[in-house]
Amino acid sequence: MRNITPSLLLVFCIILGLVSGMFSSKSVILSSIEIFKTHEWLSPQPVIYFHCQGENKIILPDVKEKNFVYKFKGIESWQPIAGFPDKKCKRCGLYELDRLKSDDVFDEWELCPDEFLEGNYVHYKQKEFNATFACTECMTRVDKKSHLAVAVLLGALTSLMAASAAFGIYKYWQKRKREQNQARFLKLFDEGDDIDNELDL
Ligand SMILES: *[C@@H]1O[C@H](CO)[C@@H](O)[C@H](O)[C@H]1NC(C)=O
Repeated sequence: MRNITPSLLLVFCIILGLVSGMFSSKSVILSSIEIFKTHEWLSPQPVIYFHCQGENKIILPDVKEKNFVYKFKGIESWQPIAGFPDKKCKRCGLYELDRLKSDDVFDEWELCPDEFLEGNYVHYKQKEFNATFACTECMTRVDKKSHLAVAVLLGALTSLMAASAAFGIYKYWQKRKREQNQARFLKLFDEGDDIDNELDL
């Protein structure tokens, strides 16, 4: 059992790493955006922001002109623009701040982690805007493959652990059996001595 313990420890560390990797939040960045119109007539500089339900508004400070493609590196101060803690979609939208009435809506939609094919997702709304988002941790095909790999690995590890436990129990049983036999053997000698003593008497 002495050489099995460190390998078991290693196995537990690997499982822990995989599990924590699976549950960590996947971050979404805005890679580019182009707006085709602005809603506010009075103010010359629109304030555009992205918002997911239940989260903070993220103002896009650079996006001011229409019909211009703004590109982002993903490390801007306001990035990442969203995050997925699990497989669930989020209700998000692009809005323009309105000083007089309620904010203007470019579009509101379900942002889903499984729509990031090859890590990218384009949201286009005619006459409103075209935005590309990136989420490398969301890639569906790779996700499924890695889940399968995890399942196979877990299965293999479980059988390995069961086998080593069974082996340990077998070894222990063998040892016990040997001890019992030894005890019985010694007892036999003792009894033999007793008989000798009785004969002497
Ligand atoms: C939207 O933007 C992406 C990236 O800039 C571009 O490849 C795509 O053709 C655009 N789509 C439309 C309909 O403008």
